Amino acid sequence: MMKNFRRSFFRWCSRPVLYLFITPVILSAFMLSGCSGEDDISGKKEVKIGLAAYDQYDNFISEMMELIDEDYAKIEKETGITVTTEVYYGQGSQFSQNNQVKNMINHGCDVLCVNPIDRTDTSYIINLAQENDIPVVFFNREPVSEDLLRGSSFFYVGADALQSGVMEGELVADYCRDHPEADINGDGVFQYILMEGEAGHQDAIIRTEYSISTIEGKGIALERVTSAIANWSGDQARAKMKSILESGTKAELIISNNDAMALGVMSAYEEAGIPVEEWPAIFGIDGIAQGLDAIDKGTMKATVYNDKEGQAEAITRLSFALATSAPLDDLDLENGTYIWLPYKKVTKDKLNEFRH
Ligand code: BGC
Repeated sequence: MMKNFRRSFFRWCSRPVLYLFITPVILSAFMLSGCSGEDDISGKKEVKIGLAAYDQYDNFISEMMELIDEDYAKIEKETGITVTTEVYYGQGSQFSQNNQVKNMINHGCDVLCVNPIDRTDTSYIINLAQENDIPVVFFNREPVSEDLLRGSSFFYVGADALQSGVMEGELVADYCRDHPEADINGDGVFQYILMEGEAGHQDAIIRTEYSISTIEGKGIALERVTSAIANWSGDQARAKMKSILESGTKAELIISNNDAMALGVMSAYEEAGIPVEEWPAIFGIDGIAQGLDAIDKGTMKATVYNDKEGQAEAITRLSFALATSAPLDDLDLENGTYIWLPYKKVTKDKLNEFRH
């Protein structure tokens, strides 16, 4: 994507008619600026980006926020343009995030990158941004299309939830086929517990549905013994799993909507003093650092990589291009609005590809 961005930048600069007029200007600016590399199309020496994330304690989001920070630093180095960020966390309240967005606009942010609290309620942000002519790059929590498609300056960077559900289902089905001993009670049916993310989140709804339908579609017999909503949180999953274990419920598979909750489930088994050899086969999604470690140890069987590096790069490249009025042609925008990063399956033999 970095290459694509550069390509579009140079293609823009290489229009022949423009040369006559801008070459002398570019040359003198280049000499005056001490040869800082690519020039800012808009003439700005500094851009200000507002970043609002839904929750600072979410493992996946905090790993992505660190990458976003690193990527803006890289862009600064490449372009010589200073990128300042104003960062907020919404603490679960859309009302607070709306106020944070108001502040970012009042403080002169050129572009906003927003990870909304309530993806069905982004109209306040969209209206305010539209009134102030500020582009918004939403990420990870996908606004409903009625809101997102209201103007040409709203974008979404994320990954296709359906793909992650199908991949998790395929990983579980492969495991069940290759490990008949995972059917601990030998009844030919895999008893499972589903750990679900936040109600209403596109990833929770779709991963839940498609992981299960994919496993069944592969001819594996399943029985849901129970499920719990743990809102993406390891602590909540630990607490929910603790009471499931105390109720005597037994399972052969744990299918979790994300790694953080899968890790919480593992803590509950550990705290209950159940030896690792007696744990069910546990599966997650994300490939966060601790999830990859768990695959290495064998306590989690597989996960689906949610490409936070790719998403962070897309968010930073797109927001920087918008802030400097650069062309967006080569940013892989679907319908001028969406950037999708593919998921990948992670098993123990492929771990090295995902450790950065
Ligand atoms: C991730 C979860 C994360 C959630 C936050 C999902 O895509 O898989 O781990 O908690 O986004 O919105």
